[in-house]
Amino acid sequence: MNQTKRPLVAVVGSINMDFVVESALFPEPGQTVLGKSISYFAGGKGANQAVAAARLGAEVRMVGAVGGDEFGNKLLSVLEAEGIDIRGVRVSDRATGIASIMVSGGENTIVVVPGANGAVGPEDVTVHSRLIAEADIVLVQLEIPFDTVEAALRLAKSSGKKTVLNPAPAGVFPDEWLQWTDIVTPNETELAALVGAERLDNPAVLDAAMQKLHERGAQRIIVTLGANGAVLSTRSEGLVRVQGRKVEVVDTTGAGDTFHGALAAAWASGESLPEALRTAVDASALSVTKAGAQTGMPTAAELDAWRKAAN
Ligand code: RIB
Repeated sequence: MNQTKRPLVAVVGSINMDFVVESALFPEPGQTVLGKSISYFAGGKGANQAVAAARLGAEVRMVGAVGGDEFGNKLLSVLEAEGIDIRGVRVSDRATGIASIMVSGGENTIVVVPGANGAVGPEDVTVHSRLIAEADIVLVQLEIPFDTVEAALRLAKSSGKKTVLNPAPAGVFPDEWLQWTDIVTPNETELAALVGAERLDNPAVLDAAMQKLHERGAQRIIVTLGANGAVLSTRSEGLVRVQGRKVEVVDTTGAGDTFHGALAAAWASGESLPEALRTAVDASALSVTKAGAQTGMPTAAELDAWRKAAN
């Protein structure tokens, strides 16, 4: 990463406690299986992305909410320990958000109970408008209410800032949002949901789906492709493909979030978008080598050392 300038990233998003159960197989509906282990990890797409950006050297501000319970206290201290500015995180009277995650064979399924994340409203964006508008990049996801995401995008754009909209979990947002979004970053499932496709199972169908999103107003689209890397599609400049790296996969939870935090930190630090994309793909590959969303997120030094060894 370009270290001459410390980028400032604002994340408006969710904060969860992840309950991760590992088992040899996923249960079918109605079936009970015996698990191997349960672990408790800090998570939430917003918090994960904030931590990923902070580990790579960005100054990060978080806007969101936790409950006034034990999990909320724990999660606040985790964010603080990462050096993240939590002045924008409110303690709500709802319970802290929870994600129930099943991991099997390196894959996962996730059920999220939003709790306090559901109480993050447009008024939080208004109250913390300075924290957000001072950032170089504002990063949002769909684990908080849609009107809050919209308010954050509008504010960031009217303040002349770069914006990244990660439409995760899959959801269909109004096309209007695309005018306030510099990069929209679905994975293949999320892109399929956005364009109303069953699945995007070959490159031609994927390209057509990205084209459809451009026609609806998207300037730049990055589609994350898991182990296969990512593709950037720009209206005027065509496609840039970045291949994934081969790694020993332990847990893919949070890989997308690592990608987003790294992308924001790298782009805001002055890397070109193709360079930032390479950084994001590499950071995300490293993150899946450990269990838990945040555990494997690399620091800038770890990422540099790994890249040198890999090249
Ligand atoms: O993207 C992974 C995250 O999704 C988990 O940490 C979980 O909290 C859910 O929000």
